[in-house]
Amino acid sequence: MYKFFIKRLFFLLPPERAHYLAMGMLRVFCSVAPLQKLLLFLFFKQENKCLEQSLLGLKFKNPVGLAAGFDKDAHYIDGISALGFSFIELGTVTPKPQSGNEMPRLFRLPKSLALINRMGFNNKGVENMVAQLKKKRTDTSVIIGGNIGKNKITPNDSATDDYLFCFDALFNHVDYFTVNISSPNTPNLRALQEKEPLNDLLLQIQNRNNSYKKPKPILLKIAPDLTNAALDDIIEVVQQNKLNGIVATNTTISREGLMESENEISTIGAGGLSGAPLKNRATEVIRYIRNKIPNPDFVIIGVGGINNSVDAIEKLEAGANLLQIYTGFVYEGPTIAKKINSGLLDYFLKKKQNV
Ligand code: FNR
Repeated sequence: MYKFFIKRLFFLLPPERAHYLAMGMLRVFCSVAPLQKLLLFLFFKQENKCLEQSLLGLKFKNPVGLAAGFDKDAHYIDGISALGFSFIELGTVTPKPQSGNEMPRLFRLPKSLALINRMGFNNKGVENMVAQLKKKRTDTSVIIGGNIGKNKITPNDSATDDYLFCFDALFNHVDYFTVNISSPNTPNLRALQEKEPLNDLLLQIQNRNNSYKKPKPILLKIAPDLTNAALDDIIEVVQQNKLNGIVATNTTISREGLMESENEISTIGAGGLSGAPLKNRATEVIRYIRNKIPNPDFVIIGVGGINNSVDAIEKLEAGANLLQIYTGFVYEGPTIAKKINSGLLDYFLKKKQNV
């Protein structure tokens, strides 16, 4: 029904408008708690002990989460959890609100099952996010991640202040943090992935974290466009600062593997590519990190081009412990988490039988 009817209607609209319309409808529906429960029960529920994951000191009902960027301002938590995702990474949020880049800034590439975006961290600021989180219904058991970034106008040498500001503001309202230094759409942000600035940033965030009575898990989100030498530096710095994991990966600046014409692609212009063409590179990065850090307590959240349970299993076999989805939701529709979890359940049960 989604692919043949609803998706066709939504795809008549510009992508950003379609996103807000779809999520707005879900939000209204789920504002009535019994309807949210009914929705979950009828269409999206896939619960089973075998799917549960105890990681980062948290209990995930299943391994499938929603990637950052989808719910930038914490507007849709109840709706998303009703769709069967066990965790949502909110943001990227910055200290001050900012409008992001000029529209259009989000483009569909349907032949490639991909998107290109240059949103530029459009968000209403961290104080607004806190206000939204305070309104969250307490019966929502979904795990909340806070993906934090810096404002566009903040120079890199004071970026740490922005990250710490968001960290402190969100501390009592999220379950884990992701430090995002890998968006291609904030000028110069990815320079923070270099060894020295990264070490300074993570050291200060971890020091702040340790000043709290009960520190939170912290992960780092990285780009797929790094060389192995750069990945080695990141792995070293992440371990040195005792981070709990890595989110691999953000969108790519590469345009490889696209089915659209060169003309179409160049007309779209700059931005991060997500979806199917990113899949193999993201998996490669996950495998590389897991080979270097075999300890399964070091969490790798695998993200990039997951459209179905086969893609999801590929990421798990490469070394991911949890998964996130963005573009697959747009192309496969709101049942994607349930479908992937059904496939994962078969996979986990077979694995258990073979042990
Ligand atoms: C993103 N992504 C993203 N990531 C992040 O850390 N902060 C953000 O604000 C955003 N914003 C954002 C907007 C849009 C429109 C897209 C498509 C993506 C990246 C996202 O979380 C994910 O890492 C990539 O999209 C790869 O996963 P998929 O889309 O291939 O499943």
